[in-house]
Amino acid sequence: MKPYAIEAVHARRIYDSRANPTIEVEVVLAGGTTGRGMVPSGASTGKFEALELPDGDSHFGGKGVAQALHNVNEVLGPAMIGLDARDQRQIDARLISLDGTPNKSKLGANAILGCSLAACYAAANYEHQPLYRYLGGAMANTIPVPMVQIIGGGAHAANAIDIQDFLVIPISTKSFAEGYAMVAETYLAAKKLFQESGRPVSIADEGGFWPTAFKSNEDGLRLLTESIEQAGYCPGKDLGIALDIASSEFFNEKTGTYTLSLEDREYTPAQFIDLLCDWVARYPIVSIEDGTGELDWDGCRLLTERLGRRIQIVGDDLFTTNIERIRRGVSEKCCNAVLIKMNQIGTITETMEAISYTKSHGYLPVISARSGETEDATIVHLAIASGAGQLKVGSAARSERTAKWNEAIRIEEALGASAYYPSQKIFLDSCISKFNIR
Ligand code: PGA
Ligand code: ZN
Repeated sequence: MKPYAIEAVHARRIYDSRANPTIEVEVVLAGGTTGRGMVPSGASTGKFEALELPDGDSHFGGKGVAQALHNVNEVLGPAMIGLDARDQRQIDARLISLDGTPNKSKLGANAILGCSLAACYAAANYEHQPLYRYLGGAMANTIPVPMVQIIGGGAHAANAIDIQDFLVIPISTKSFAEGYAMVAETYLAAKKLFQESGRPVSIADEGGFWPTAFKSNEDGLRLLTESIEQAGYCPGKDLGIALDIASSEFFNEKTGTYTLSLEDREYTPAQFIDLLCDWVARYPIVSIEDGTGELDWDGCRLLTERLGRRIQIVGDDLFTTNIERIRRGVSEKCCNAVLIKMNQIGTITETMEAISYTKSHGYLPVISARSGETEDATIVHLAIASGAGQLKVGSAARSERTAKWNEAIRIEEALGASAYYPSQKIFLDSCISKFNIR
């Protein structure tokens, strides 16, 4: 066998940041080079995502991975033996065809992604290149603007508040390192505000603060704005606010309404969009994700019509990193940005294609982690390789999150003068011409 041919594939059970089991795949090339892929897992998963294959038995609340491990070790792995690790398209095509289903439900998107990632790392290691350079080539130099959670809610905090993520985006610095420093100071300021108000300080699944004793969803916006100020920064000038409403979680399919449990209020789509517009008018919000539910295309079109020239409108559950769904969004003018999650679609090839499609249609890609994560930092490399421009990784605390942020700091330093950090240009250079900043 040639030294870059895949000689062995092995999957093992490891654990994610919520103590759930997940899989790690290792690929060994004939020349001895190895590569490893670790698979993340969501909690507020979209209906149209590629499927993880959970065991469904009494262990780990049904989330065991014995089936997925079996599928790597006995089905996918053996079919990869002999393939050129540098031919990512061929490897992914083989994984996809072995599964044969549209949503990877036969062998599992977790099993398939683990194999895809491990082969990619083995090839990058064989070429002695960091992943961003191997995947992105000589011109890859865009360090992504971070979107960082300060308060965690929704399915990541037992629904103590309806909105899932209250986040900040640094928009006034020349580098990632400086921008991220403002974010970390904002996180620390928020902690102080929680302590001073006598609330217990605990954290949600992605490391953001647990929304204890909030009386309304708007309380989150108030606390976030105050945290930015307390940190010594100007809301809407130094740091913009981003929200992931994750509204599929509280959209009622039967009645077509949205319910905010904290306020005990039900909204028609038009009323809910009015509420979001009101928040955008009164707070320095620069991005809203899943403001409408994954089934509510009409609502999304209306939301985009009303806000899409002022702020970023991101589709996560709506698109699930699936080109067919992104295509519908583009043709129906729904959203102006796409959240990109590798395990929503299942292979590196399909993820890169979704990013290219998004960019070539004038939409902004936002590379994202999942709420259940590992120390793996692939998404940082993916963001730089693809020139996506934005990265969402949960909060500024917990090492499965800092593993990613710190990797971005390292790569920015390694690129030196060649690094490009878009800051607020990421929005200004797009269709968001009337950017909501002060
Ligand atoms: P998830 O949440 O990983 O639990 O789906 C992240 C998000 O909704 O963006
Ligand atoms: Zn989301």
